[in-house]
This record gives sequence, C-alpha cells and structure tokens, in this order.
Amino acid sequence: MIDVHCHILPGRDDGARNLEESLVMARELVREGFEAVVATPHVVATQFPNPSVEIMAAADRFREALAAEGIPLTVYTGGEYYLNRALPDLAREYHPIAGLAGSHYVLVELPVMNLPLYLDYSIWPNDDDPPELRHALPFIRPVIAHPERNQKILHDINILRSLREMGYFFQVNLEAIVGLGGSKVVRLIKQMARENLIDFIGSDGHRPEELRQVLSGWRRQTEKLLGPEACERVLKENPACLLRNEPIELEK
Ligand SMILES: [Fe+2]
Repeated sequence: MIDVHCHILPGRDDGARNLEESLVMARELVREGFEAVVATPHVVATQFPNPSVEIMAAADRFREALAAEGIPLTVYTGGEYYLNRALPDLAREYHPIAGLAGSHYVLVELPVMNLPLYLDYSIWPNDDDPPELRHALPFIRPVIAHPERNQKILHDINILRSLREMGYFFQVNLEAIVGLGGSKVVRLIKQMARENLIDFIGSDGHRPEELRQVLSGWRRQTEKLLGPEACERVLKENPACLLRNEPIELEK
C-alpha cells in the first residue's frame, strides 16, 4: 500500500520539522501496513517554492536515512501544488514538475474557501509551450488533494461531478475517512464513494502525532466506506496505475 500524500520530508514546508520527526512518521506508516509513501511537500511560489530538483535531492537524503535506520519504506517524490493563477507559470518554470512518483499524475491543492477560476485544463502546459517543455511534460493528470476540505465542494457535490467530466482525479484524506473531519465531511465522502469519485486516499500527514491519529483504525474505516471492490481499486489498482504511469479506467 502507498500513501500518496504526505509531508514527510524534513524542513521543506509545514510538515516534518526535522529528520527525527520524518523517521517517526516513516515508522508509523510501516507499522500500519504501508510499503511506500509519496513525499509531497507543498509547492507555493511565495511560501514554499520547492523546485522539483530540490524535492528529489531531499528525498535522496531521506532514503539514505531510512536505509541507515533499517526502516522498510520506499520513498517516491511528488509535490502538492497550490492551484492558483501562478501555478501554470510555476509549472513551466520548474519543469518537470514533480508528478506523483514521477508520473503524469500531479497533486493539486485548492483554496479552502473558494474555487479558483483556473480549473480548466487549458491552464496547464500545452501546445503553445516551447517544444522542450512539451517533451518534458506532454500532459498531466491532475489529482485534487482532499476535495472534502473545500467549502464550496463540501456543500455542492455537483462541482466534483463537473470536475470529473474535465478529467480530474480525487484524493481523500484519511482524516475524513476515520471521521475526524466532522459529519458534513463524512456525508460528502459517502456520496463520493457511492459515485466512484474517490480515486486515492492519503494521510496528508504533517507531524508524527497527527499522523498517528489519522492512521488509527484507517484500514477498517476505509473498507467500511468503500466496500471490498472499490477498496481494492483505491488501495491497490489505482496506485499501481500511478506507479506505471498508466491511465486509470474511471468507473461510472
Ligand atoms: Fe497536504
């Protein structure tokens, strides 16, 4: 199993503050049955620039530390890209952007209160971009991080339905699944589960204590929410597609 969203790299953002915290988080994930994690530091131009080369270098250092400690956790790289007006340019500037585990699936984060006007695919690097960029990043498959935390979406699932039509994928946080997000969030994710709108789950872990909380009983709650078939898809098949950089067949 893979945690596709985790702020486990030390000192890159508001996640793990140092290597010790990162190692504690890694041990927690392993204990809860995760074999791999995608390190997804925030990428926000003004606050956490995190160019992809730096993310890769930080992940290399972390892998060495894990090996030295004998912690059996595979670390892939990624980033959590804040979706605002600056992002397409940032993507151009930092190409190749850090897709999840080097794939074309890119984790994007929405503002909490509003929906950006830039959700259309046309914002992403496209045919008008220089050839070298088109070669490095022919297309992306955007994965919206924790859509359940956006207040507009929380009150209107139709937004998710139309984002799905545009080709977005959705990653729900374990916090929501184990019930720590509140009852409205539970109602939304149950409906998302019924409509096959959950593609990935992630811990979105920032600190050891918080990670421990969302991991408590996560497996049982995920099975309860999704049922055996969708559980298999979300926990195994979709992450496998991501690692192979293959398209995910969407269930209707
Ligand atoms: Fe996050």
